[in-house]
Amino acid sequence: MCGIVGYIGKRQVTPILLEGLKKLEYRGYDSAGVAVYHENKVNVMKAKGRLKILEERLDGGKKLTGTMGIGHTRWATHGEPSDVNSHPHTSTSGCIAIVHNGIIENYLRLREFLTGKGYTFVSDTDTEVVAHLTDYYYEGDLVDTIIKVMQKVEGSYALGIICNDKPGELVAVRKDSPLIVGLGENENFIASDIPAILEYTRNIYLLEDKEIVRLTQDEVTIYNSDKEEISKEVFTVNWDVSAAEKGGYEHFMIKEICEQPKAIKDTIGPRIQNGGITLDDIKLTKQDIEAIRKIYIVACGTAWHAGIVGKTAIERLARIPVEVDLASEFRYRNPIIEEGTLVIIISQSGETADTLAALREAKKRGARILSVVNVVGSSIARESDDILYTWAGPEIAVASTKAYTTQLSAMYLIALHMGVVKGHITQDEVNTIVRHFEQIPDKVQSILENKESIQYFASKHYNAKHVFFIGRGLDYNIALEGSLKLKEISYIHSEAYAAGELKHGTIALIEKGTLVVALATQDHLFEKMLSNIKEVKARGAVVLAIAQETNREIEKEADFVLYIPETDPLLTTIQTVVPLQLFAYYVSVEKGCDVDKPRNLAKSVTVE
Ligand code: AGP
Repeated sequence: MCGIVGYIGKRQVTPILLEGLKKLEYRGYDSAGVAVYHENKVNVMKAKGRLKILEERLDGGKKLTGTMGIGHTRWATHGEPSDVNSHPHTSTSGCIAIVHNGIIENYLRLREFLTGKGYTFVSDTDTEVVAHLTDYYYEGDLVDTIIKVMQKVEGSYALGIICNDKPGELVAVRKDSPLIVGLGENENFIASDIPAILEYTRNIYLLEDKEIVRLTQDEVTIYNSDKEEISKEVFTVNWDVSAAEKGGYEHFMIKEICEQPKAIKDTIGPRIQNGGITLDDIKLTKQDIEAIRKIYIVACGTAWHAGIVGKTAIERLARIPVEVDLASEFRYRNPIIEEGTLVIIISQSGETADTLAALREAKKRGARILSVVNVVGSSIARESDDILYTWAGPEIAVASTKAYTTQLSAMYLIALHMGVVKGHITQDEVNTIVRHFEQIPDKVQSILENKESIQYFASKHYNAKHVFFIGRGLDYNIALEGSLKLKEISYIHSEAYAAGELKHGTIALIEKGTLVVALATQDHLFEKMLSNIKEVKARGAVVLAIAQETNREIEKEADFVLYIPETDPLLTTIQTVVPLQLFAYYVSVEKGCDVDKPRNLAKSVTVE
């Protein structure tokens, strides 16, 4: 998704914009640009491609001196990646420059209206209509102007605006796309996300939808859409700059894979006390939980893969019926929300457009919302009734790893808590599971210490054209995640299949040399999985198996076996996924792919 950075203060702005945009590269982009107030007017420089191309054109920032400006990294939605389609976009006179993250849904109608008013367009983007509409309404006050623009524009937006007439102010507004305000000493910032400005300030405002902010060097004023001033609490960021840096690792992804023991410990530690579960962060009372008749879990991508594990955990421990929905489907299928329905929203970024829209749809229908989110103060967090934060720290790599295993941990915490409240599991059962749960971080660490064996296997199979991940029950859930990881960072086609389903068609695709990753960690399904491994072996497949270290007979059937430390069968998921994350990572590195910023993908999909 697009990234926005803005600055007004005493320092040279262009290097600050470039450094800030670099910290937002993980969001995915295909072009970049800046607009700087320089020599008494707004000057724009933009370029298709990576940031370093823009940096060269700017001679590292020397070409555009000035102390106020806005910058943007564009992830193309309307109009191909090109110089002219890059942001910032300007009014025809060049007087006004804007950067935008989101989608203007009625841009064609606005383009027609503005063309009728004599405006000419140079780009194929939706964003350019906002530049001309701002010009159309501008009569000297940028806040008044933006309020008028907001009344005309439909869709999602985070906007940064500067103007020739106003060298001392920068205006911004957000609706459905994230935007924060950084508060400095004689300087102030806007940004799409915290890493862009963290080296300058930890004190930020989290803008709500339709809030407009006017920044000067010394002042930050926030207005609602009636131009009434709003006071806000300052949010202080508590994670350090290094958390958003590679810290000596070659890629963010391997760093974040290796941070999982700490991330899981940080997520479950405060919530396991005296062998029991305490979810103080959520306001759901015992009575509320006893009244729950149905749970929907709604999410996208990897977060959805955490949700399907959550279904098994909650139904097994709390005996509450759970339905898991893709957010992009849930929001359009007229879901049945009745008395006693809880909707659990899972999202790492807390900004995924489909997931946020699904939350609003559920809330509109009367559901109570519990969200599992990794970004404090994100849009989804702010619109939920209850939040269970995953304390994974900032996840920069596009492919989610530590956020996923902490989402799994959160699902187990919720299931255990509800199971106890509903009286479906005894305290002894809770103690047993919790004891295993507390050992998981160290067991994950032991898998990480054996990552070279996975790197070796990846070096033998990185040229695979098709890979099949098969499993049963919870292993099938993890197979889905392992397949997505491989696809999204190595671009190898892969499919996850319920192992029992293979013989109903897809096994026709298995031929000599086909790579099959077989997950066999569930004791009660182990024999069945051995049969499935034999089935695919009989057709020439090469099988990488993952099993608990107590099930060594699997070596007779598989070509290569990775063992995970023994644990409660319900909890194996957190361990089983780690070799799959590593496998995908090493294959991607062997193929020379852009591991942290895979093609076509964005870290936070803030558009539909
Ligand atoms: C996971 O590796 C992907 N980057 C993607 O599927 C992601 O999980 C999905 O877009 C949901 O993102 P969210 O958790 O921030 O809502």
